[in-house]
Amino acid sequence: MEVKTSLLDNMIGVGDMVLIEPLSEDTFIENLKKRFDHNEIYTYIGSVVISMNPYKSLPIYTAEKVEEYRNRNFYELSPHIYALADEAYRSLRDQDKDQCILITGESGAGKTEASKFVMSYVAAVCGKGQEVNKVKEQLLQSNPVLEAFGNAKTVRNDNSSRFGKYMDVEFDFKGDPLGGVISNYLLEKSRVVKQPRGERNFHIFYQLLSGASDDTLKKLKLDRDFSKYNYLSLDSATVNGLDDAASFRTVRNAMQIVGFMEDEVQSVLELVAAVLKLGNIEFKPESRCNGFDESRIKDKNDLKEMCELLGIEQSVLERAFSFRTVEAKMEKVSTTLNVAQAYYARDALAKNLYSRLFSWLVNRINESIKAQTKTSKKVMGVLDIYGFEIFEDNSFEQFIINYCNEKLQQIFIELTLREEQEEYVREGIEWTNIEYFNNAIICDLIENNKNGILAMLDEECLRPGTVTDETFLDKLNTVCAEHQHFESRQSKNSKFLTDHSLPHNCFRIQHYAGKVLYRVEGFVDKNNDLLYRDLSQAMYKANHSLIKILFPEGNPAKVNLKRPPTAGFQFRASVGTLMKNLLTKNPNYIRCVKPNDKKAAHIFTDSLVCHQVRYLGLMENVRVRRAGYAFRQAYEPCLERYKMLCKQTWPHWKGPAREGVEVLLKNLQVPAEEFAYGRSKIFIRNPRTLFFLEEKRRQCLEDLATLIQKIYRGWKCRIHFLLLKKSQVVVAAWYRRFAQQKKYQNIRSSALVVQSFIRGWKARKLLRELKHKKRCEEAVTTISAYWHGTQARRELRRLKHEARSKQAVSVIWACWQGTKVRREYRKFFRANAGKKIYDFTIQRIMQKYFMGLKKTMPSMSPVDKSWPARPYGFLDRTHQELRRIFHLWRCKKYRSQFTEEKKATYEEKLAASELFKDKKALYPSSVGQPFKGDYVEITKNPKYQKLNSLAEDKVLLADVVSKINRANGKGAPRIFLLTKKSLVLADQKTGQVKASVPLLDLSSVSVSTQSDGFFALKLKEGSTSAAKGDFLLSSDRLIEIITKLHRIGAASADRNQINIDISDEFLVQFKQDKVCVKFIQGTPKNGNGVACKRKNNRLLEVSVPSP
Ligand SMILES: Nc1ncnc2c1ncn2[C@@H]1O[C@H](COP(=O)(O)OP(=O)(O)OP(=O)(O)O)[C@@H](O)[C@H]1O
Ligand SMILES: [Mg+2]
Repeated sequence: MEVKTSLLDNMIGVGDMVLIEPLSEDTFIENLKKRFDHNEIYTYIGSVVISMNPYKSLPIYTAEKVEEYRNRNFYELSPHIYALADEAYRSLRDQDKDQCILITGESGAGKTEASKFVMSYVAAVCGKGQEVNKVKEQLLQSNPVLEAFGNAKTVRNDNSSRFGKYMDVEFDFKGDPLGGVISNYLLEKSRVVKQPRGERNFHIFYQLLSGASDDTLKKLKLDRDFSKYNYLSLDSATVNGLDDAASFRTVRNAMQIVGFMEDEVQSVLELVAAVLKLGNIEFKPESRCNGFDESRIKDKNDLKEMCELLGIEQSVLERAFSFRTVEAKMEKVSTTLNVAQAYYARDALAKNLYSRLFSWLVNRINESIKAQTKTSKKVMGVLDIYGFEIFEDNSFEQFIINYCNEKLQQIFIELTLREEQEEYVREGIEWTNIEYFNNAIICDLIENNKNGILAMLDEECLRPGTVTDETFLDKLNTVCAEHQHFESRQSKNSKFLTDHSLPHNCFRIQHYAGKVLYRVEGFVDKNNDLLYRDLSQAMYKANHSLIKILFPEGNPAKVNLKRPPTAGFQFRASVGTLMKNLLTKNPNYIRCVKPNDKKAAHIFTDSLVCHQVRYLGLMENVRVRRAGYAFRQAYEPCLERYKMLCKQTWPHWKGPAREGVEVLLKNLQVPAEEFAYGRSKIFIRNPRTLFFLEEKRRQCLEDLATLIQKIYRGWKCRIHFLLLKKSQVVVAAWYRRFAQQKKYQNIRSSALVVQSFIRGWKARKLLRELKHKKRCEEAVTTISAYWHGTQARRELRRLKHEARSKQAVSVIWACWQGTKVRREYRKFFRANAGKKIYDFTIQRIMQKYFMGLKKTMPSMSPVDKSWPARPYGFLDRTHQELRRIFHLWRCKKYRSQFTEEKKATYEEKLAASELFKDKKALYPSSVGQPFKGDYVEITKNPKYQKLNSLAEDKVLLADVVSKINRANGKGAPRIFLLTKKSLVLADQKTGQVKASVPLLDLSSVSVSTQSDGFFALKLKEGSTSAAKGDFLLSSDRLIEIITKLHRIGAASADRNQINIDISDEFLVQFKQDKVCVKFIQGTPKNGNGVACKRKNNRLLEVSVPSP
């Protein structure tokens, strides 16, 4: 559990001066002292933090401390700068209020340290991340760089800021740093050329000479020995507790982190070196003829080295130190410089060089740390300005510094004292005015546009004629003499005429923090801040990138005759801007107090502290705080912020905001003395009441968050539940449907099963019944059949029996008769009985054979070879004979059906058979051919009309045959006509008769045994036809031709039958020669055909394909 603490716990003295009793300056100082002695360096006045410089390091800035103060209320823990930083950061982050942290106090009071603690605290508590950390690192590391170049050891502070610094740190809406902007205010540049006793130049000079490597120093043409440089004071060259060499490394490292390029660092160091070199340039007078002295450089070595460093032509710079060119109205006048003027010019250049370098550094850092986004930013400004200082010898710089502090005090007074009191009055809160010193009058003395000191100084500087510091003082003496805070010996105010503490060349101002005596010497010069144009032009000509940028006015192309604004004017303007800027932000004050002048720990110089308490107006601050109210807020935002603490105001209050706040406070039972109602604001007296409200609000917010979470979770659960329910209903519906479907299908299939079983059962039952019925019927039939059978058989038996009985009777009777007959006729028939029986039996058998044969007769077809088997062996011959007779008979029957024509055909066929069967191989193929006779339709074909008419009688055969050429055996087609008397050979195409042979002249016909169609018609020797020789012809219808030819011979009585000679070799008479026609079997070349070839005179070979 979080332990609640308060600043009241373990308090040393009083943590908040508001609580001190009794309130007096003594008790105030006493309290500070007590706390200081116990290392409690921070004390509050309400929300203002008083910080005492401990001059020793305290263990109160650790990471644990940061965590301790993180997100804690201001008054919850003992006073600490972290509490203020946390408060500022949180109200920037959570309430969107821009903040500024104003750190004031005199030199050495610890402002710079305080600003660093604030920055480091904010860096530690704000967001983290690679980018954010880089930004933080850059912001933090800008400090060492600026401190090296802008801080110096003074008699009051070993690390005194010699410039004013205001840093705006920019944050995004989450409170993560985005970047920053640094503004610098008037660097005390006179320190570059001259330092008061016991003080040092800016740290960087010492750091460079101590910390840079030999190599770097060589490059920069520098010597490590401080004493070699006129601009470096020797009496406090080393400072206790300051390690310049280490600091140099830190600075180099910081420059790298911030984002300086290596060549930029080098340029910066070159400029620093150049300033040191510049300080060493010395001048000597050289008399001129006009009687004036002209300055000359004593030893040009340093000048040469410096020119080499900066890339400046030596002669140009040398001339600039000896001459000065004044331009006025198109005229250029060149005057020589005397030694003093040359030194003045040298120092002015050194100061300008350094201060411009410093401004460039600030700009360069700004470039690096600039926020990258253009989104709206929240800003926390940290102001660490040089503290109020009073030296023995105070010059223009102190005047400016103190003016600045005066302005800050003014702001403090404005916001904490005057503004607060005025607000009470404005808001109608009962208020007894508290007196305090308002330093507005001093500010007016300095900055008044008409007769302010700065205005007078400017006026004097711009005035034509001789202007000196004395004339300026005279002016002040006349203008400001009456002012109660201005003191001068020569003023009209006679009061100071005898004041010996006030020298004649000085004036004194009663600042809020004390009287300061300013020596006027140098005021005009410093305010003018003039650099001879010859010098700036020489610088512009430099071949060095940085130098060129630093002296833009040296550009001859941009010669500006207008005077630049004075230093005082610039400073006043920038302070004015700063004040305006600060007024827009919520201020947080750190009032730094210095315990002693010796920079020593443990020493508490009451008088010194008392002085600071007085001028810082801390007592007044406490008084106002005690009398007033710690917190105020307009009613609307107040109600908006705390409305959740009361039921009536939450969530919306309908009435006016003030009433809402009243109801709220009443409800919360806040004691009436703790708050007051203003016109537009509520005033809360005690911070504790505010914290009470905040605490309540925090709790309430937690409750509200819980409530929102609860409602959201409830809503989410309900949505989820409704979704589940809806889904469940859908799922259930689907499931029910599915289940019902399934059930229905089950029932249906069951019903089907049951139905089928029932139907089956019914069918079986029916079947059984039908079967039974059928069986019954069958049984009946069977029974009746059996019965009938029985009856029939019985009847049959009876009939049989009856028949047998009858037969028996007849048999018996016959037997009896037989016996009787046999007995009677035994004697008569005994000798013939055997023969008779034999004949009878034979007769009987024959009868049976014939009867059987009759039943088994074969068909009437003459080709039917079947014949029933012989039943008895003794009938074998009869059986064969009968078969032959039957065959002849059926042939006769068959023939008797024939017509004459068919008969003739068959006779021809028969004749052919007789002639050729088994003699000639061609015969079987002719059996199936009908012997048509006229194959060329000689009677009908008009082509053969003539031929037909030549034939005397009926043509028996007309066909195309092939006449074999006797010479070569080739065939030529011829019409072959056969009549009863002659045969004719005629041309196939024309029908012209080639040869006509009377059949009487034909002696024989020769044919082969083969399947060929060759036949030779042999003519009788001596006949008329024989003159040409025998004919050798070939025809497929050889069988028919020969048969017909043979039958003609057979039929005619007056002629001999023509011989048919069947042989494979026969002789043919060709004219005079007898040629042998020989048939051989072979495979002729022309496929299956028969080839005939005349071999020689005697031989004609016919090759017939083998079968
Ligand atoms: N909180 C602190 N803890 C330890 N030492 C401190 C603290 N504050 C200041 N100092 C010491 O006091 C010295 C001077 O402080 P600092 O430089 O902050 O003064 P300053 O107010 O900025 O002075 P100036 O106006 O001259 O710049 C520091 O160098 C440091 O040694
Ligand atoms: Mg400082």
